[in-house]
Amino acid sequence: MPSVVVIGAQWGDEGKGKIIDFLAKKADVIVRAQGGNNAGHTVIVGENKHTFHLLPSGVLYEEKMNIIGNGVVIDPQAFLDEIKTLESRGINTANIRIDERAHVIFPYHKKIDVLAEEERGETKIGTTKKGIGPCYMDKVERTGIRVGEMIDKELFKQRLFPQIDRKNKILEKIYNVEGFCKESMLRDYEQYASQIKEYVTDTTIIVHEALVSNKRVLLEGAQGALLDVDLGTYPYVTSSHPTSGGFCVGAGVNPLQIDDVLGVVKAYTTRVGFGPFPTELINETGDRIRKEGNEFGTTTGRARRCGWFDGVAVKYTARINGMTGISLMLLDVLSIFDKINICTGYEYEGKTIHNFPASIKELAKCRPIYKEVDGWKEDITSVKTFEELPDNAKKYIKIIEEYLKIPIKIVSVGPKRSQTIIREEIFE
Ligand code: GDP
Ligand code: IMO
Ligand code: MG
Repeated sequence: MPSVVVIGAQWGDEGKGKIIDFLAKKADVIVRAQGGNNAGHTVIVGENKHTFHLLPSGVLYEEKMNIIGNGVVIDPQAFLDEIKTLESRGINTANIRIDERAHVIFPYHKKIDVLAEEERGETKIGTTKKGIGPCYMDKVERTGIRVGEMIDKELFKQRLFPQIDRKNKILEKIYNVEGFCKESMLRDYEQYASQIKEYVTDTTIIVHEALVSNKRVLLEGAQGALLDVDLGTYPYVTSSHPTSGGFCVGAGVNPLQIDDVLGVVKAYTTRVGFGPFPTELINETGDRIRKEGNEFGTTTGRARRCGWFDGVAVKYTARINGMTGISLMLLDVLSIFDKINICTGYEYEGKTIHNFPASIKELAKCRPIYKEVDGWKEDITSVKTFEELPDNAKKYIKIIEEYLKIPIKIVSVGPKRSQTIIREEIFE
C-alpha cells in the first residue's frame, strides 16, 4: 500500500508517535495535516526520548521528507525550537517542509486562548493554551495569516498590522488587558520568517508526486478522532479534523489516494482536558493505570484521566475513519490487573445502546456495560511475537478484534521500537 493514514482513534495520546517512527523506516514521505504544537508525540530510541509537537514523528529518519501540511497551524517560535533541538542532537533538518498555505499562530492567539478559557469558568475545555482554537477561528473567518504571507516581506506588514489592531480592541475592550505592540511583533516575526523561509513550499505537489510515483506516504494524525471538531465530543474537542478525511483538506491528498487507515488505540482509554468519558475510573484502579502507564501529558504535563477500553467509542471512530487495521498500544500496562474490563455497550435511560451518541448530554448519562476478562499478570515487555503472549493477553486482543471486526495488526508492549509485535505488515 503506498499511502497509510495513522490516526488516534480515542481522545489523543494513543502512542501515534511511536508507531509513526516505527513505520517511517519503510516510508518515503511523512505528512502532518492538522493541529499544531498542541500535539505531543513521544518517540523513544535507545536511551533517548524525543518529543515532537509540530514536527512529524518521522524526522529521526533525516533522509525522508517530513512535511507539515497546509492544514496545520504553526507557531514559528515552537517550530524553530524543535529544529534547534534536533540539530543539537546531530539530526539534519534539511528535508523538512512547511506548506505555504499553513496558518500562523501569533501571540494574540495564545493570549486569547488563555483568556477565553478563564472566561468559560466551569465550562472550560481544558485547552493546551497554545493558541490553536483562536488561530483556526481566524482561518475560518478568512482573516488569518498564512506562512506564505509571513515570508513575503512587503505583504506581511500590511496583513499583520490590521490584525493586531483588531485583536488589541478585543483584548482591551472585552478582556480589559493590555494589547500588543505592533512594531515589536513585526520585528520578532520577520526574524522567524527569515529562518523559516528555506522550509516553505507548496507541499501538496511533493505529496502528490510521491503518490503518483508509488512512493510510500505515511499520513500522521495528531490528537484523536473523538477530538474532531465535527465528529468528536463537541465542544470538548480541538479545532481541527483529526480524522482520516482531515488529510484530504489538510494535506491536499485526494480521497482516492488513501489506501489504508490504521487506528492507534490504547489497550485502555485516556483523556486530557474536560468533557464526558463513560469508562473513566475515578478510583484506585484509574490511579493504578495512570501510575503504570505514566499517564501525564507530553505537552502540558497534566495528569491524564484513565479508564477501561471503550469498544463503543472505538467502533464509532472505526466507522467514521474507515479503519482497516488497528495498532493496540500499551498492552503491557494492563499486566498488573487480575481482572480487566472491556466496554461493549452503554446503558442509557434503562436501555442498552451500541452507538456512540452525538450529544454530549446523552453521552454524559451513559453507563458502560462491561465484559470482564481475566488478566495475565505476567511481564510481557520482552515478548516478540503474538504466539509468545500469555493466553489471556491473546484472548483480550481477540475479544477486541472480534467486537470491532477489524484486524489488530500491531501490538505494542513497551515504548521502544523493539517492543512492537507485528501481526500483519503495514507497508507490504
Ligand atoms: P501520541 O500523542 O499519540 O504520540 O502519544 P504520547 O506520546 O503523547 O503518549 C504515549 C506514551 O506512551 C508515550 O510516553 C510513549 O513513549 C508511551 N508508549 C507508547 N507505546 C507504549 C507501549 O506499548 N507501552 C508503554 N508502556 N508505553 C508506550
Ligand atoms: P496528541 O497529538 C490529547 C485536547 C486538550 C483539550 C482539547 C482542546 O499528543 O494526541 P486545544 O489546545 O487543541 O484547543 O485543546 O484537546 N488535546 C489533546 N489531548 N492529545 C493531544 O494531542 C491533544 N491535543 C489537544 O487537552 O481537551
Ligand atoms: Mg500526545
